[in-house]
Amino acid sequence: MAVILGIETSCDETAAAVVTDGRVILSNVVASQVELHRRYGGVYPELASRQHVLDIVPVIQEALTRAGLEWSALDAIAVTHGPGLVGSLLVGVNAAKAIAWAKGLPLIGVNHLEAHLYANWLIPPPKDSGTPPMPAPVPRFPLICLIVSGGHSDLVLMTAPQRYRILGRTLDDAAGEAFDKVARLLGLGYPGGPAIQAAAQGRSGPNGGGRPERGGDPHCFDLPRALWQSGYDFSFSGLKTAVLHIAQDYAGVIGQPSQLKARATAAHQPPAKRQLPVADLAASFQAAVVDVLVEKTQRAAGEFQAKEVLLAGGVASNALLRQEMMARLRVPVRCPPPALCTDNAAMVAAAGHFQYEAGERSSWDLDVRPGLRLR
Ligand code: KG4
Ligand code: ZN
Repeated sequence: MAVILGIETSCDETAAAVVTDGRVILSNVVASQVELHRRYGGVYPELASRQHVLDIVPVIQEALTRAGLEWSALDAIAVTHGPGLVGSLLVGVNAAKAIAWAKGLPLIGVNHLEAHLYANWLIPPPKDSGTPPMPAPVPRFPLICLIVSGGHSDLVLMTAPQRYRILGRTLDDAAGEAFDKVARLLGLGYPGGPAIQAAAQGRSGPNGGGRPERGGDPHCFDLPRALWQSGYDFSFSGLKTAVLHIAQDYAGVIGQPSQLKARATAAHQPPAKRQLPVADLAASFQAAVVDVLVEKTQRAAGEFQAKEVLLAGGVASNALLRQEMMARLRVPVRCPPPALCTDNAAMVAAAGHFQYEAGERSSWDLDVRPGLRLR
């Protein structure tokens, strides 16, 4: 039973975790930089890497302490080496190399996207040491994975462990990127996904701000669903632009309303300079993204006779997406708990475990790969 230390620094979370058997989480520490980047409305890469440098050692130390383990208990160090921000990745990879060298442990470079998938098979440790861990879910192949994060929207056919075929990906913005940009446009702050979800539900968002009087109406605005029936690729930039044009209409800005695919329904014809119905627009935007993601995943599951569907990545923590996938798909849908959908190192340790078992080892010249894709 291998014990793996995972390290993750691909974006704005400094994370370390200890996982046994690729499944059981002994510790999972995440130092989020959200507060640092909020004022910029997105991740400021230079600041992110500097903060990783400050946080990486205490976060790793904390992961070991919470797991109750000494260095000698570890079998390997797994680290995200791509895709991600180059300066951020460098911090994690160099820390992992230094520890692996000093402690004489094998080093394993992990693909961040693959790690997101493995979050689906993680389980918490048993409540007390006398109880055996609950059985871990076993993947049933072939399966379809939808990886939706701030940087990626990939629809993937998985036929065996580590065997992937990309069916489609985004042609422009990633789903999470679209959430972040639209949230900025609606004045909901960063990170955008949870803020849009909250506004649509009539709750105050994580970034503070006023609580909408009611939940939003997802049918209020007829927003475009790009590439709806064609192939498995995604496109979200037209949807974002449609939201921008509606916002401009309400603000009385002269835009190009005649070119809008999106039309406000009769009840919401926007006279210039009327208050933007943020909750309705957030709900309509969220519904449009979810509709496209569910439609394509459902079609892929049917075509490739998937035995199950996995959701992964930060956007997979979206409540409507999870609810609609489970309601509309005819095969079981698995998604990690929200805290394991967003970036963490337990998923890196889990992916690293399966590489470790397959005898994969990285050499000391392991480099960062900002544009790494799934093999
Ligand atoms: O996987 P992740 O933590 O980092 C990347 O690898 O990119 O994903 C972050 C993305 C952000 O764009 C964030 O807005 C989005 O996931 N996100 C959500 C939700 N929570 C996070 N999007 C929609 N609904 C959510 N509840
Ligand atoms: Zn991620």
